[in-house]
Amino acid sequence: MIPYGRHYIDEEDIAEVVKTLRSGWITQGPKPHEFEEALAQYCGASYAVVFSSGTAALHGAYYAAGLGRGDEFITTAMTFAATANAGLYLGARPVFADIEPDTGNIDSQAALNLITPKTRLISAVDYAGHPYDGKTLYEAASRDGLIVVEDACHALGAMHMADGRWERIGSCRYSHMAVFSTHPVKSITTGEGGAVLTNDKGFYKKLRMFSQHGITKTAADFQYPPDGPWYYEMQTLGYNYRMTDFQAALGLSQLLKLPNFIKRRREIAAFYDNAFRGNPHFDIPVERDYAKSAYHLYPIRLKNPKQKNLLFSRLKDQGIGLQCHYIPVTRHPFYRQMGIPPCPTAEDFYQRQVSIPIYPAMTEDDMKTVCRKLPEAFDDAK
Ligand SMILES: Cc1ncc(COP(=O)(O)O)c(C=O)c1O
Repeated sequence: MIPYGRHYIDEEDIAEVVKTLRSGWITQGPKPHEFEEALAQYCGASYAVVFSSGTAALHGAYYAAGLGRGDEFITTAMTFAATANAGLYLGARPVFADIEPDTGNIDSQAALNLITPKTRLISAVDYAGHPYDGKTLYEAASRDGLIVVEDACHALGAMHMADGRWERIGSCRYSHMAVFSTHPVKSITTGEGGAVLTNDKGFYKKLRMFSQHGITKTAADFQYPPDGPWYYEMQTLGYNYRMTDFQAALGLSQLLKLPNFIKRRREIAAFYDNAFRGNPHFDIPVERDYAKSAYHLYPIRLKNPKQKNLLFSRLKDQGIGLQCHYIPVTRHPFYRQMGIPPCPTAEDFYQRQVSIPIYPAMTEDDMKTVCRKLPEAFDDAK
């Protein structure tokens, strides 16, 4: 079976995890902080805080932004439900902006048009690893005093152009905080895991406390004089969203491989682009001039959405796994029951979208098989 996505773990990764398991530190040791420093350095941000999942990291970022009851936040329906769910955890109401029909990213102008006095933040997803139009969104939203959170769960290793230079996603040039996931199909994995990057010390402190029960052990931050050397303070209601040391050890080892992972993903995407450009059945993904995608996914868009079901079953029979990203968040019963209206472009995108296999360990043979079998699956399809 050629799946739509798969992690890559080798003996070096395993050795690093085993070394950490033998070190005596399973959790709350030095590795999570080392991973934070390495992530911040790789992305070009001042601070990183690791979390137990991308969802927990989103929860932390929205909390740090001050999102709460009575607030609205603007986001996209073309994402995994967690992007919106994390705002509901804080009692805020999601408002969904429609998407660009080709990239699948939030339409920056549509998002800006939805701002009301109740809006506190905008959460924009780098769909499939392609950076959203951050410059337009961030500059206008910041002028309005809003916080922009970048759900970059697909986009570790992607780049965007800023002032004529390529910068890594996570540098937070066009967001106040960028959120990553290290779930297995993402750019790198720690099993489950996530991180928030920021250049703002205030956000950093809030993120750190939120992920550790709202507790600080930093004497300079204490609100009361310490009772003794054991002293720590719980200053806010937080969660246990920590990452373990053996997960962070895996993350550190994976991060060294990230440049090669992204290179390989981009090679596979270029191979598909060449094979499929101009074909009569579907459109291939676009890459804007300002973006270098991490190609977490290779999302094709069918010209005839009625062929989607048949395509899934025919390719499954041929040993090729497809996926659909995403069922718009507004389509889920939980969100429908809130009376939230659908976004027309996101609905149309959903009907047409299919993710075909892309992952670093894909072989030349796998790629050629997909390039042969995919067009064949449209034969006689109505
Ligand atoms: C866009 C997006 N946001 C958030 C998440 C949540 O990340 P995690 O699975 O690490 O909680 C995912 C994971 O699939 C995602 O794709």
